[in-house]
Parts: sequence; structure tokens; C-alpha cells
Amino acid sequence: MKVVIPGGTGQVGTILTRALTAEGHDVVVLTRAPRGERQVHWDGATLGDWATQIDGSDVVINLAGRSVSCRYTAQNLEAMMSSRVDSARVVGEAIAEAARPPGLWLQMSTATIYAHRFDAANDEHSGVIGGGEPGVPGYWAYSVKIARNWEAAQEQAVTPGTRKIALRSAMVMSPDRGGVFDVLSWLARLGLGGPVAGGGQYVSWIHDRDFVRAIRFLIEGDDLTGAVNLAAPGALPQRELMRELRAAWRMPIGLPATRWMAEIGAYALRSDTELLLKSRRVAPGRLTDAGFTFDHPQWRTAAADLASRRRG
Ligand SMILES: NC(=O)c1ccc[n+]([C@@H]2O[C@H](COP(=O)([O-])OP(=O)(O)OC[C@H]3O[C@@H](n4cnc5c(N)ncnc54)[C@H](OP(=O)(O)O)[C@@H]3O)[C@@H](O)[C@H]2O)c1
Repeated sequence: MKVVIPGGTGQVGTILTRALTAEGHDVVVLTRAPRGERQVHWDGATLGDWATQIDGSDVVINLAGRSVSCRYTAQNLEAMMSSRVDSARVVGEAIAEAARPPGLWLQMSTATIYAHRFDAANDEHSGVIGGGEPGVPGYWAYSVKIARNWEAAQEQAVTPGTRKIALRSAMVMSPDRGGVFDVLSWLARLGLGGPVAGGGQYVSWIHDRDFVRAIRFLIEGDDLTGAVNLAAPGALPQRELMRELRAAWRMPIGLPATRWMAEIGAYALRSDTELLLKSRRVAPGRLTDAGFTFDHPQWRTAAADLASRRRG
């Protein structure tokens, strides 16, 4: 297959490019700063020569978007929104104009689209879309708005020859440097991997190899369209997630952090506490209904596997 990955230079793109290339597929990455041979320039917002890469390709997996791991200033929030909506819109335009459009357009979205909740898991059928939860900071609704507009940009694209799926992905856990598993492991190994603000908030995650397997499953299947959750069934409270992670690193101590300590830590790490405090309780619904099974459904064994690969 020829697979085009706009925004494929980041954490998720690296995982996918590595896996798809190893399987013998031709992977072309669209980036604002091409470096390698199979990297092509685009600006993420306007049509250009890059669109010829999409014409005649088999699959497009659009991952582009300003990192959400930043301080949520007005400027950063606007960049988070526009980079996602503009890139999805222009990918749709390129597909619409292609003489030989790809059979499938996988558009990254996020599990953050669902409501902050503890009582039950959000799947695609009965899940509650966020934005109206009482008792949470008002700006959390903006992240949901970004996700909704992101998905809407794909839905609104008129691409009749192309199957469209929005990937409501949880955190992709991989042993690579700089990813979320790396950051959490660093905290755990420093003895700082304890509960944050009580640790009752759920964390949804997916093991990198299951992420790749799920993408392959969606490519090989030919009927799923619309939103699909990419999350292991074993979402768990943050304090348990960190307990298992500490066990994987054989670290007995995990100092707890209060909400205000988390605020300071997030500020120091140039990040935002929404990433730590929002309860993301997401379950795979459509994926498992379609017959997908997870190799790493539970966090304990997933964390042990990731830590051992990281050590290796
Ligand atoms: N990582 C996760 O666990 C996870 C989970 C759920 C959803 N997601 C979403 O999946 C996507 C990929 O995640 P990731 O972790 O791989 O992110 P990442 O490492 O931040 O990479 C995203 C890529 O988007 C491109 N980009 C950044 N700002 C852009 C802009 N203004 N216009 C166009 N392109 C821009 C960058 O490519 P260039 O600089 O090369 O152009 C970058 O490599 C993101 O949209 C993220 O929100 C990630």
C-alpha cells in the first residue's frame, strides 16, 4: 500500500511509520519541515503540490495538530484548534480533488471528546460527549470543542469514494523517548509517581502495538465508518495506573501530589493540569464489536512490557 501520513513526524507518526514501513508499505509523511527521503512539504492549511501524493494513495492517516502538551494560553488554544481543523479540511480537499482518491481516510481525533466522568465508561454508542460537565474548569470545554470541530471538518468533506473514520484515541503508550509513557516513567522513577489530586480520575490508554494492530484492522476491514474509540478496555484510576507503573520500574515510593502541586508541576513542565485531572474513562466499543481483540487489554502487563522494552 501507499500510505500518506500528514503530521507523521511526531510520536504517533513515528510508531506508525516504523510499523508500516517494516511491513513493506510505502509511507509518505507530510511535514512543514521535510528532512528524510519520503517526507514531503506541506503547510497543513492550503492545497499544494503535496496533494499529488494523496492522489493514487491507498490510505491517508492525518495526525497533524499542534501538541496539546503546552500551557493553555489563548494563543496556544487557537493554534491547537486551527492546526487540527485546517489540516483536516485541506486533507479533505485534496481527497475530493484526487482523480484516484484513497480508499480510506483515518483522521486522528481524541478520547478527550468524551465527558469527564467516573461512573461508567464512554463508548461510541452510549458515551457522553463533554463540554457541559458541572464542577470542572470552564476552559476544559474548549478541548472538547476542538475535538468536535476536528471531527466535523472530516465529516463535512465531500469524499464519496473514500471511507472515513475518526480515531478517538486514548494516550498511546510506547517506550519511545519523549512520549507520555516516557514522561510518566520518569516521574515514577524519581519517586514522584503517586496519586495526583486523590488519583480517582480515570486514565485511558492504548499500548503502541495494539494501536498499530487497530489501525491495520481498520484498514483491512471495509465497513466501519465514523468515530471509533482506540482505547484498551482497562482504563483505570490514575493512582492505580501509577501504582502499576511504579511496580514495573520497581520503585516502592510514589509521593502524592495535591491539585495545587499539580498546577505548579504542570506550569514547570509547560503543560496544563487538564491532561492530569480530567477523568478520561473510555472503552472500545465499535472496535471490539467488529472483532478486534487487544494483545494488551490490562495496564499491569502493558506497563511491564513497555518498561522492559524501554530498558532494552
Ligand atoms: N500521542 C497520543 O497519545 C495521542 C492520543 C490521542 C490523540 N493524539 C493526537 O494525535 C495526533 C498525533 O499525536 P502525536 O503525539 O504524534 O503528536 P506530535 O508528536 O505533537 O506530532 C504532531 C505533528 O503535527 C504536526 N504539527 C504540529 N503543529 C502543526 C501545525 N500548526 N500545522 C500543521 N501540522 C502541525 C507536526 O509535524 P511537523 O512539525 O513535522 O509539520 C507534528 O509532528 C495529534 O493531533 C494528537 O493530538 C495523540
